[in-house]
Formats: sequence, C-alpha cells, structure tokens
Amino acid sequence: MHRVVCPGSFDPVTNGHLDIVSRTAGLYDEVIVAVLINITKHSLFSVDERIDMLTEVTKGYGNVRIERFHGLLVDFCAANGITAVVKGLRAVTDFEYEMQMAQMNYRLAKVETLFMTTNPLYSFLSSSLVKEIAKYGGDVSGLVPEIVLDRLHTRLAEE
Ligand code: PNS
Repeated sequence: MHRVVCPGSFDPVTNGHLDIVSRTAGLYDEVIVAVLINITKHSLFSVDERIDMLTEVTKGYGNVRIERFHGLLVDFCAANGITAVVKGLRAVTDFEYEMQMAQMNYRLAKVETLFMTTNPLYSFLSSSLVKEIAKYGGDVSGLVPEIVLDRLHTRLAEE
C-alpha cells in the first residue's frame, strides 16, 4: 500500500494543483491532500472552506482524501503511514526552495519527496496570482475549477 501526500496551503486550489493531484492518484494507492493550518499567514479562505473546495473538486477520485495538518509535515507523514511527499515543480524558481525542503524532510525523518513536472498549461499559475488578478477584476476562469471561481467572486465581493 503506497500512500503519499500532496501538502500545501491551497488558498484556493487551482487547476495546477488538481492536475498534480489527479496524476498522483493514477500512480499511488492513496493520495492525501494535506492542507496546512497556518494561523500566522493571512489567507483568503478558512481551512474549512479550502477543505470544502478540495473535497468537491476531487470527489471523482476514489483514492484521494483531504486532511488538515499543523506542525511538521514529517510528523503528519509518520502519524498517517505516508511513504512520500509529491510536489509539483513549475519552473526553476520553485526548485531551490523545494529541494531545500525535500532534503530537510529526508534529514528529519527519511521522508522522500518526489517531484512531478507541472503541465505547461499551468506553469505560470499560483494561488497568490489568482487571488491578485481576481481582486482587480481580471479573468481567472480556466485557471481554477468552476466552484472555486464562484467562491472567489463571492468572497471578493464581500471585502
Ligand atoms: O502551498 P505552499 O504554501 O507552498 O505549501 C508549503 C508546505 C505546506 C508544503 C510547507 O510549508 C510545509 O511542509 N509546511 C509544514 C511545516 C514543515 O514541515 N516545515 C519544515 C519543512 S522542511
């Protein structure tokens, strides 16, 4: 049984995340999408809202589970019998930071990290950019799932 984790903030989930999660689901027995509870980082959506959106957009995958975690990712892995972390790599700009975390996680607990190259359709995509563009009225359709698009517009209208 190979259970892996796709960790992140997912504020909100994008089509880029979904691409990585769905491809990972095709490779492993079980994929846990783990949402980091980070109280210091300002987020647009609460952890519950992010989990709701992730649950909705991954409901077609029988082997994907959504969880939340705080503290160290390696501790979450140990507590959940997770053998590896799967991360999407968009461009060289991601590489240095991701490599540092991967090596640290291995040093801490021998947790392996596997990098999956992003679909080039989404190599420029990030949750932060989506939020910024949507905030100023730009078009982010096609970059996030429909239900996320609706929730983004509703949330930004409230602000
Ligand atoms: O979507 P993000 O914000 O780029 O995801 C970053 C995340 C959640 C994967 C990373 O910050 C993380 O693993 N945080 C948990 C705390 C931890 O284990 N830190 C040490 C990493 S070596």
